[in-house]
Amino acid sequence: MLPGDGIGPEVVSVAVQVLGAALSQEGVHLHRQEGLVGGCAIDAVGMPLPPETLDLCRSADAVLLGAVGGPQWEALPMGRRPEKGLLGLRSGLGLFANLRPALLFTPLAAASSLKPELVAELDILIVRELTGGIYFGEPRGVFRENNERVGVNTYRYSEHEIERIAKVAFDLAGKRQGRLCSVDKANVLEVTDLWRQVVSALAAQYPEVALSHLYVDNAAMQLVRAPKQFDVIVTGNMFGDILSDVAAMLTGSLGMLPSASLAANGFGLYEPVHGSAPDIAGQDKANPLATVLSAAMLCRYSLNLPAAAAAIEGAVDAVLRKGLRTADIAAQGEGTPRDGIALVGTKAMGEALLTALETPAEAA
Ligand code: IPM
Ligand code: MG
Repeated sequence: MLPGDGIGPEVVSVAVQVLGAALSQEGVHLHRQEGLVGGCAIDAVGMPLPPETLDLCRSADAVLLGAVGGPQWEALPMGRRPEKGLLGLRSGLGLFANLRPALLFTPLAAASSLKPELVAELDILIVRELTGGIYFGEPRGVFRENNERVGVNTYRYSEHEIERIAKVAFDLAGKRQGRLCSVDKANVLEVTDLWRQVVSALAAQYPEVALSHLYVDNAAMQLVRAPKQFDVIVTGNMFGDILSDVAAMLTGSLGMLPSASLAANGFGLYEPVHGSAPDIAGQDKANPLATVLSAAMLCRYSLNLPAAAAAIEGAVDAVLRKGLRTADIAAQGEGTPRDGIALVGTKAMGEALLTALETPAEAA
């Protein structure tokens, strides 16, 4: 467990209780250890990713992370900020494949910013490359040139990086609806023209998958115009960061979107897509469901316990059907005494999930 900063500890606490309960139903005992990453690590030991944390992750079967960052660390130089801790985990553990499913739970259709009919039964998977692209390219920095400062980042991908993330996406698309959309900016950026060539060259190996391509600006527009046209989207690190926030909002709230970050050897780190939300931290207001759903992905991808994953997802569905909502997923005006919707805090949502897990009949 790497709870991190802001609302991280609150949502991880709920998710770990739910995970423990779901695993014990499968006869599996959860052994957990906690490490420092992000701002809390900076405060405690002066660096965002202490080497002990990386070692702890390497010794675990899987990692569940909350969130990192907050205003009190924003003035630090880039290399020492909390976010560097997260990026260091991703690169240090080789977590190149980031799976971000945007799934609409039917009771939340009204909480989406789009019309309910546009998002009903929405089920998109964004596959984001996570250890390359402009996030990691060199050279980078702010340099002095001709008496002014110049900021530089480098957008680079090598063929093998593109190929391995594309293969993950083709495989997943083959197990879903068989449609893969690769997102790039091949009309302007050479690096993504290469991306398009490499992805296209793989298509012949996956005859069961229909491959299409979109420029990122068009993809962003299509996501809010007609999101159900997508099945699996594969894209680079930065475009994936942006498009996954858009996709999250389609499902009602950023507070609902889980993610899995996987290495070539199958090792995984699981975290909600949302950030540390410092404005509501420590107030029992945070939505724990994205982290709970990340724990479900952990069961599925790292522990190979699909039944535990399904039990957790069923519990989430059950509490939503019962009308429980944290503030972020309540539609405007919901939560009056008579509308059957109850506004709850983080802990109460966690307790309701545990109850739902114990009485799965209700979830059906
Ligand atoms: C995400 C976040 C991170 C990212 C930040 C916190 C470094 O926005 O996981 O989407 O940009 O990857
Ligand atoms: Mg992001």
